Parts: sequence; structure tokens; C-alpha cells
Amino acid sequence: MKQLTKRQFKRYCDIVYNESGIKLTEEKRELLNARIGKRTRKLGVQADKYLSMIEDDPVEMNLFLDAISTNHTFFFRESDSFKYLNQSCKNIWCAASSSGEEPYTLATYCLESGFAPSILATDISDSCLQKGRRAIYPQKCITNIPKTTLRRYFQKGMGKWENHVRVKQSIRKLVTFEKFNLLKDSPSSKIFDIIFCRNVMIYFDKPTKEAVVDKLSSVLKHGSYFIIGGAESFSGINHNLKYIEPSVYKKI
Ligand SMILES: C[S@@+](CC[C@H](N)C(=O)[O-])C[C@H]1O[C@@H](n2cnc3c(N)ncnc32)[C@H](O)[C@@H]1O
Repeated sequence: MKQLTKRQFKRYCDIVYNESGIKLTEEKRELLNARIGKRTRKLGVQADKYLSMIEDDPVEMNLFLDAISTNHTFFFRESDSFKYLNQSCKNIWCAASSSGEEPYTLATYCLESGFAPSILATDISDSCLQKGRRAIYPQKCITNIPKTTLRRYFQKGMGKWENHVRVKQSIRKLVTFEKFNLLKDSPSSKIFDIIFCRNVMIYFDKPTKEAVVDKLSSVLKHGSYFIIGGAESFSGINHNLKYIEPSVYKKI
């Protein structure tokens, strides 16, 4: 496909921003070009036609957002903040959970610590939610997992699933995957004992971050923790949480 024109690039960026809150920067131009090119070639349409297709068809919009979003995640990522998980964390929300490695990590950590919470894992991406529900991961994804955790909670694949592992039912049953767009959806009235929303707000601008923090903290129990990613911070934004340490805030 030809390179997107300046006008087309801006329109695609506006759509991504309006739909997901993600602020695409100029560095993402190549990525956007490549991903749109792949899809338009498959559909046999030009970039302008594809713009109207995603605007008119929610299914195509989902595929588009799926194709351009950064879903990078891994088991036991930034595990320092897990120390805030304890027996009182009966309901955990793992927002922007990508393909499930994060909520399954939380579940294994809790079970190993002697309690079994209910974990809501949400993401905007249908394909990520599907991967999470399937709970099958290539062997190369499990290098971070402690050996005992691996033995207890993961099953080795055989036959066509050789070189893969599946998360065992004892862990899977603790995690429920649901679609939730942090920008557009409203949480139910359920109150959470801790919220993890890591490595997604880094793609949001200040007003979007403020709205998302406000929305999530409205369903966080008083005295409970709000955990963000290591490269993220709420400094410079308006919020009602107390700073505890890098990546950790508390609702007071
Ligand atoms: C880089 S991954 C982070 C995954 C995981 N939290 C971690 O820290 O490893 C970012 C995730 O945010 C999701 N995401 C992006 N915009 C979103 C939105 N508006 N609502 C919900 N999820 C969103 C993406 O689909 C992706 O799975």
C-alpha cells in the first residue's frame, strides 16, 4: 500500500483517540501504515475506503483497534507491587489485561499466598480476551514463572500443543474475562479491593488519564490500592488518591 497521506494519518489517529483514548504519535506512522496495508490488501480496498468501513462497521472497528494496539505483556511482569495483595483482596480488577498473563500471574500469586480471589480481567481487544480465555501460551512465554508455580498451575501440552502450556483450571476458574473499554464503558456497581491498571495509561493524554483514574477509583474500596505500571505516574494529573510509592496509590 502507498504511504498514508498526512490527512489520512490524522484521520486514523483521530479515530484511534476517539475510540480508545490512545494518542498515536508520529513514530507510530510506520506501524499504522503496515497494519492498515495488511488489512486493506486483504479486503482489496484503498485507505480512504477503509476509513469509511471502520467508521460504519463496529466489527471492522474492533479488528482495526486490535491490529494497531500494543498488547505486549508477560507473566510476573513488575512483580514488586504484588506485596499489596493480601487475604482482604477478595475482588480484584485487572484492567487492560491483554492476553491474560497478568491476571493469571495475580491468581497464582494469591493461591500461593493462601487465598483465592475473584479476578475480573478486562481489555478492549477481542483477540486478547480470546487468548486469555483459551489460556494456552507458547513455552517461550513462561521463562519468568517460578519453577514451583509452573509445576503446580501449568499443564504441558502434547501432540499439536507440544511446546505450549495451559493454565490449569484451579487458576482459570478465578479469572473472568470481559470486554471493557476504559475510555467509553462504565463499570458496574461492584466494588474492588485492589485495582491493577498497568502499562496502558502511558498511551493516554492528561484528560483521558484523569477520566480513567476517576472512573476506576469510583469502584475501589476506601483504603485500597490502585496499582499502575512502572513507567507510569499520576504526577501532573488531578486525582483523589494518595501516593504511596512509585506505581502504587491508595484511595483514602
Ligand atoms: C501494553 S498492554 C499492558 C498489558 C498488561 N496490563 C501489562 O502490564 O502487562 C496494554 C493493553 O491495554 C489495552 N487497551 C488499550 N486501550 C484500551 C482501552 N481504551 N480500554 C481497555 N484496554 C485498552 C490493549 O488492548 C492492551 O492489551
